[in-house]
Amino acid sequence: MLDARTAPPVVPQEIRREDYRAPDWLVPAIELDFDLAAEKTLVTARLSVERNGEHDRPLRLDGDEIVPLAVLVDGAEARWTMDGATLVVELSENAAVVETRVALAPDRNSKLMGLYASGGLLCTQCEAEGFRRITFFPDRPDVLSRYRVRMSADKARFPVLLANGNPVETGDGEDGSHWAVWEDPFPKPSYLFALVAGDLAVNSDPFTTMSGRSVELGIWVREGDLPRTDHAMESLKQSMRWDEETYGREYDLDRFNIVAVDDFNFGAMENKGLNIFNSRYILAAPETASDADYDAIATVVAHEYFHNWSGDRVTCRDWFQLSLKEGFTVFRDQGFSAAIGSAAVERIEQVKSLRAGQFPEDAGPLAHPVRPDSYIEISNFYTATVYNKGAELIRMMHTILGPEAFRAGSDLYFERHDGQAVTCEDFVRAMEDASGADLRQFRLWYSQAGTPRVLARLEQDGAGATLHLAQTVPATPGQTDKKPMLIPLRVALIGERSGAELATERLILLDGEQSSVRFDDVGEPAFLSINRGFSAPVIVTAERRAGEIEALAVSDQDPFARFEAMQELMSRDLLAAIYGGAVETGATVAAIRSTLASNALDPAFKALAISLPTEAELAEKVDPVDPAAIHAAREAFRVAIGEALADDLEAAYAGAAADPDSLDSLAKGQRRLRAATLGLIAAGNPERGTELARRQFAEARTMSDRQAAMMALGTVGGDAWDEALDAFYRRFAGDPLVIDKWFSLQASAPRAETLDAVEALEKHPDFNLANPNRVRSLAGAYAMSPFAFHRADGRGYDWLARMIVAVDRVNPQTAARFVAPLGRWKRYEPVRSEKMRAALERIMAEPSLSKDVLEQVSKSLA
Ligand code: ARG
Ligand code: ZN
Repeated sequence: MLDARTAPPVVPQEIRREDYRAPDWLVPAIELDFDLAAEKTLVTARLSVERNGEHDRPLRLDGDEIVPLAVLVDGAEARWTMDGATLVVELSENAAVVETRVALAPDRNSKLMGLYASGGLLCTQCEAEGFRRITFFPDRPDVLSRYRVRMSADKARFPVLLANGNPVETGDGEDGSHWAVWEDPFPKPSYLFALVAGDLAVNSDPFTTMSGRSVELGIWVREGDLPRTDHAMESLKQSMRWDEETYGREYDLDRFNIVAVDDFNFGAMENKGLNIFNSRYILAAPETASDADYDAIATVVAHEYFHNWSGDRVTCRDWFQLSLKEGFTVFRDQGFSAAIGSAAVERIEQVKSLRAGQFPEDAGPLAHPVRPDSYIEISNFYTATVYNKGAELIRMMHTILGPEAFRAGSDLYFERHDGQAVTCEDFVRAMEDASGADLRQFRLWYSQAGTPRVLARLEQDGAGATLHLAQTVPATPGQTDKKPMLIPLRVALIGERSGAELATERLILLDGEQSSVRFDDVGEPAFLSINRGFSAPVIVTAERRAGEIEALAVSDQDPFARFEAMQELMSRDLLAAIYGGAVETGATVAAIRSTLASNALDPAFKALAISLPTEAELAEKVDPVDPAAIHAAREAFRVAIGEALADDLEAAYAGAAADPDSLDSLAKGQRRLRAATLGLIAAGNPERGTELARRQFAEARTMSDRQAAMMALGTVGGDAWDEALDAFYRRFAGDPLVIDKWFSLQASAPRAETLDAVEALEKHPDFNLANPNRVRSLAGAYAMSPFAFHRADGRGYDWLARMIVAVDRVNPQTAARFVAPLGRWKRYEPVRSEKMRAALERIMAEPSLSKDVLEQVSKSLA
């Protein structure tokens, strides 16, 4: 007989989209009573349940790591049983009040799902299935209830008691306790429930909505963090205004509260009227937060706020529809960020992050459609595909319909489905009904995984030109046979002599496997500018004529296309070097020189345009992947560019000195350009680079300047790097968000010695397996650093595998996120590939893995 240690792990049952059934019982109202304390919290829940349709099935209430202390039906002892973790209650009537009581230990809840303790606070996280860790309930998004929540707690330790909706009553109890009752008038699914108890200070501000209602906004943090909340407050008010102006959406409660917590599994959560945030997406001061942090805060604050409509008022029928709210809400926050910053720079960044996170996912063992067909653990599906590719789908509809029809579709969607739990199909239908467009073929984007590839060839003749297009959609796990997609491509032809756009840009809808599009009146030889603005999330390969890509890189009027041409140019020459050819940087040097010299381009764009494709981006373009070869070729390229452009880079670096007190686009762009040029200067001349970086570090008044200097020093290494690390640590010890940076700067340094640093940091007193930010700043940063992680000796893989197993015992959701970097093993050269696979096998052999990690590892090995 096999014992438990050698038995192959059983991969738990899959949940399938096609098995969806409407709920047997509805819960129109719930009353919750919390007797709160960190060690022991008592929860009493009174559910008003109603039979949904004609059936005689019992009421089934989900639970997870909770046991019923009492179960009453209409006040009397009930007939109940447990089916695994599910509480089954026999009910004879069509309606009843079912009361349950459970006891929780928030301070021992290290999974950070349900009710948990974080830095003296008590808070909740319910999406997707955390509510069942708080009380027994039909924990699925299509069961919507009105919540009345009573909390009581020790007044000295938990002076602030918050829940969803509006406060209705408060009072003092005995023995120094106090209580508060909150009521949320909007029916909501259980995943949007939230409460917070703790010693919090508030930054509060009034906001008047477009119809003149007054809302009290509150951002709740530790007293000492109050000065760092102004940017989040400003971002919140801007988001509220923008959503009114752009989507006609108004806020609907008297209060809107945000609470920042230090221990959080992801970015933030849109609980109705009570958003809970990872503190890294709230707290900012120029000393401690980089420009990128400021931008991320604005985006995440907007994202969670926008969910009030796209998520809370209209929610998801089941978790397969997650992109209904996430794809749409990401698209909305992208629109907001484009409006408050530079639209061109935003778009380039969105595409960069899609390429860094989503393209690899779509090309690997964890590929899944934007609307998945099955899952084992839903937490594993909060992915770049559901979020970022999902947003690209919405953007394509916006492009195809045009802004007015899209807005009409959005209005219809909100009006038609307010208060409902609906599907991605409902969203697309609203878009069709409002616009008259036919999106039948477009729907394939929801069901087919994999990044489509488009081949383009421009053929010119005397009178005009013909653009020949062909598409293929690669096979992905479980999907071998793909149909052609509807691919919207914004295309322009650019005159080779005039540099002007010949005729206006066209939107081409490629719908077949192949298609040819005619352009008349092309009076001169033309270059092809295709997929402008990244109008479709596809990989385009265009046949290029001599000099074509060089010309587009310095002349395309579409900023994204210009950036793209630059990337294509550099990739072409980098790939040649990776495959063993000479390091040929002449074309890149010329393009960077002309980019730096331009008076028309803003500094942020310049910084992006002169940045080489990352090692991870290059890895996507070669087969098999040899990270050492990629690193060596790219470094040689950087050295050659740094040497050839030493004077231009110095001039650009000096010319981009920014006002340290300004956070406007110009100052942020200048800091960014300084970072980009400093990196190249240091590559060409490490001594000079070190000197400049040292000075920049010493004089830095912003975190962006300090961080950029550290990155340059980290690449070179040596005493200057060690000294900077020490100084940085001494200055910011005790500030967890900044110490996270200190960890990740070391873990991502692109050097062979990085693993030694990582192993030392794991033993550092500030390392803490229970804090997801800290774990990500070490393990996440290291696994994302291709050269340092992908060591030929496999020690990087061993380290990560060990870390995954250790984190899994504490926090499965966070552990499962680190499996993907190992999961791409089939793409690597044989020595590394085998070691990556072996590391996965070792994880798989561990007893009692969580289903989170089990799902990711077993799919990666399949
Ligand atoms: N809905 C949240 C957001 O996108 C994220 C929730 C993530 N949940 C999870 N189980 N990973 O704003
Ligand atoms: Zn979201």
